Amino acid sequence: DLIALIDRHVRDIPDYPQPGVVFKDITPLLGDHAALTATVRGLADPFRDERIDYVVGLEARGFIFGTPVALELGAGFVPLRKAGKLPARTLSQSYDLEYGTATVEIHADAITPGSRVLIVDDVLATGGTGHAAVELVRRAGGNVVGLSVLMELGFLKGRERLPDVELRALIAL
Ligand code: PRP
Ligand code: MG
Repeated sequence: DLIALIDRHVRDIPDYPQPGVVFKDITPLLGDHAALTATVRGLADPFRDERIDYVVGLEARGFIFGTPVALELGAGFVPLRKAGKLPARTLSQSYDLEYGTATVEIHADAITPGSRVLIVDDVLATGGTGHAAVELVRRAGGNVVGLSVLMELGFLKGRERLPDVELRALIAL
């Protein structure tokens, strides 16, 4: 099934990017056509009847899944980028990561106010990135219909930071 297929194609890298962290490497999944196809469909499936206008993908790994999910859902794609990468006027939001801090930005005019938005990323860890994305989409005028991720690291309790968001994860660890 889908969960077993994903599980077989995500590998643990101990002590990356720093000692004590076990990094979930999705590159084997990306390299396998069957696993990649099933993952993209799995991310889109819960939201097929939600009339999604935009999929917002979170740099960098959320770009990989967000664009094909947008195609699956008949939606446009909007990049949420790390600070300083977007050329036009932006809204920006800072947050804490599992390791370090970051600022993310979205083009202020990327989302037509009132439109229906699905946020896509690979991993929900502490929820800092997801929470910042939800805030930015709302500040840009979008309605956050949901957040769809490949993997939820439940022990980091990111879900608790997103109490009012329809959060769907293909696998939870
Ligand atoms: C990783 C991952 C998620 C985020 C999850 O991104 O891809 O976006 O961390 O962590 P959080 O829930 O604690 O915020 P990262 O910025 O490390 O790297 P990337 O550019 O490779 O996506
Ligand atoms: Mg990321």
